[in-house]
Amino acid sequence: MAFDIEMIKGVYKTMGERIDKARSLTGKPLTLAEKILYSHLDEGMPTQVFQRGKSYVDFKPDRIACQDATAQMALLQFMQAGKPKVAVPTTVHCDHLIQAKQGAKKDLIRANKTSHEVFDFLESVSNKYGIGFWKPGAGIIHQVVLENYAFPGGMMIGTDSHTVNAGGLGMVAIGVGGADAVDVMAGMPWELKFPKLIGVKLTGKLNGWTASKDVILKVAGILTVKGGTGAIVEYFGEGAKNLSCTGKGTICNMGAEIGATTSTFGYDDSMERFLRATDRNDIADEANKVREHLTGDAEVYAAPEKYFDQVIEIDLNTLRPHLNGPFTPDLATPVGELGEKAIKNGWPIKVDWGLIGSCTNSSYEDLTRAASIAQQAIDKKLKPKSDFGINPGSEQIRFTAERDGLLSVFENLGATIFTNACGPCIGQWDRSDAQGDKKNTIVHSFNRNFSKRADGNPNTHAFVGSPEMVAAIAISGRLDFDPMNDTLLNEDGQEVKLDEPRGIELPPEGFAVDDNGFLAPDADGSGVQIKVNPESERLELLTPFQPWDGKNITGAKLLIKAFGKCTTDHISMAGPWLRYRGHLDNISNNTLIGAVNAYNKQTNMVKNQLTGEYGAVPDTARAYKKAGIQSIVVGDHNYGEGSSREHAAMQPRHLGVIAVLVKSFARIHETNLKKQGMLGLTFANEADYDKIKENDTFDFIDLVDFAPEKPLAILVKHADGSEDTIIANHTYNESQIQWFREGSALNLIKKENVA
Ligand code: F3S
Repeated sequence: MAFDIEMIKGVYKTMGERIDKARSLTGKPLTLAEKILYSHLDEGMPTQVFQRGKSYVDFKPDRIACQDATAQMALLQFMQAGKPKVAVPTTVHCDHLIQAKQGAKKDLIRANKTSHEVFDFLESVSNKYGIGFWKPGAGIIHQVVLENYAFPGGMMIGTDSHTVNAGGLGMVAIGVGGADAVDVMAGMPWELKFPKLIGVKLTGKLNGWTASKDVILKVAGILTVKGGTGAIVEYFGEGAKNLSCTGKGTICNMGAEIGATTSTFGYDDSMERFLRATDRNDIADEANKVREHLTGDAEVYAAPEKYFDQVIEIDLNTLRPHLNGPFTPDLATPVGELGEKAIKNGWPIKVDWGLIGSCTNSSYEDLTRAASIAQQAIDKKLKPKSDFGINPGSEQIRFTAERDGLLSVFENLGATIFTNACGPCIGQWDRSDAQGDKKNTIVHSFNRNFSKRADGNPNTHAFVGSPEMVAAIAISGRLDFDPMNDTLLNEDGQEVKLDEPRGIELPPEGFAVDDNGFLAPDADGSGVQIKVNPESERLELLTPFQPWDGKNITGAKLLIKAFGKCTTDHISMAGPWLRYRGHLDNISNNTLIGAVNAYNKQTNMVKNQLTGEYGAVPDTARAYKKAGIQSIVVGDHNYGEGSSREHAAMQPRHLGVIAVLVKSFARIHETNLKKQGMLGLTFANEADYDKIKENDTFDFIDLVDFAPEKPLAILVKHADGSEDTIIANHTYNESQIQWFREGSALNLIKKENVA
């Protein structure tokens, strides 16, 4: 199968000496997270101590995974790098663009029609550049990665925030923007601020109705959606060893919901069992040889307060099942206490749907536990009051679950089995039963429950729980149902109680699959043609950005002076625009339409200095570009916060914006601007923001001397003939200045390839 044992052996070979060196440099025992980080430095052997939460460090990840929505722009960019193959093992997974409606077969046929050009493009690029391709219907990226690619002690990046799922198999796996993935595909290092460390000590053993999911629902309640920001969460203790590998995956998956950089667990018997069950005996054998490197040092776990920035302890013996929500995954309520809360807050008690599966919870253990509840509904003559929907995480798990009769249990309850894809988890759900402004409630075993996430309806109240709890709640049809204490009335009018769920960790007869949906790339892809229809509205091959002409930029016009918060969503909105993620010109029509114009406090209404008229930001930018005039964007504090979406830098660049001058930047966005060959600048004197007027023109008077640590001077010409000289700071180093000179980082890579 598609894993790289030689690469993994290489990682394990150097791990020991690198960890020893890091231990001696830091003068202390190491957590697992530190071991993985210090053994994946771009420089190889560690030579210095990094400060948690402060130092920016270049890493060398082992793998990359991309999903279909984000892979489009990432691969379009990679094509610009002029490389014959990706430098690091990479896979593409088609899972986000499949809408759930009528059930797996019909939905997949429809998706293959509506998104075929995207799928064809991704398949051909993958084939050309040595990337493994997982077809639509093959499964959800993170489940497929866990079953095929994740390995203990490895480092992976992925263009999806739930890449962190692979922590369940002992990885440091981190969600990144497309631009970061492209760098690594092209052989460049990947930069990350050295994370802080949160330790979660688990004691005891799960029992009864409590599942792995409840661990993370509890942690989310404690840490809230921001509590993990900038940190790796490391789970340890006897309780951790008592969890299944896939249960660990669920916990790590939802680490994204507390903002954590990632989460991870030390290698143990559960991981070994999972590796062997998924046909990876060779990895298990290799991991066993370096077992001590694949978990934190004993001294760390004996005195965690000394070595972690924060420590949380959870006793699995007493942990209660939870339902978190609505509208935020950190609003944790123990099952049984939700009724009162719901009445107080006006949340509908009646539950319309129970959704099971997704990348978060579709393991064999999850499905067997949920099916054991569903089977009781049949045996005890209970007619489910809610609709059931199941999203298997991969074809392998679907095939195995079907073989073992698990899916038929749900089907006997009238469940719709959706495609092995994200579906309702990402709003790809054509739900016909809840429309208009009527409030409604659903329960699901996914990870996110923000407003509109599942079905696009702001009136849908979504609660997150374990698959078995979702099954029980869906059977009862009530949010206030507590299966541990309450009874239900069956079709014969008898009161019956649901027994505790029973699950099987791994399929006793092994996993099976007919066609897993994987396409290995050609060994030599040089002859492969990339399929992009020039008429397409969803895909467009990129044209390299123009290099700098080496002269001072003069006569640049103000496009917009943004007022207040300007996040990557304000710069490049999501929602319906996701459709154009692979078409730079089309998606550029949303550029900065969410930013507030400082002069009239309106969005998407700026002055065109050439005509004096007000119009949409993208139209105005295009008018300047057409007239051969470059433009600049002025912004407030923390400009570009939010996601690492590279579109937020590429779109302004495409529309002729050459500089973004702000009070301060969100760092990732600042780097993205640099990568796209733009000037990301900050006011040396913040008060100069007020000097920028609506009709201003800008001359960069010393750009020809652009150098590290040397501020730039900008002559701002006002309409009344007066002028101000503004000093702009920057953080460009020599190679980043080279990106600017060449027009983009990718242009430079390409030039170096040719040279
Ligand atoms: Fe897909 Fe939802 Fe997971 S969108 S990747 S199933 S979080």
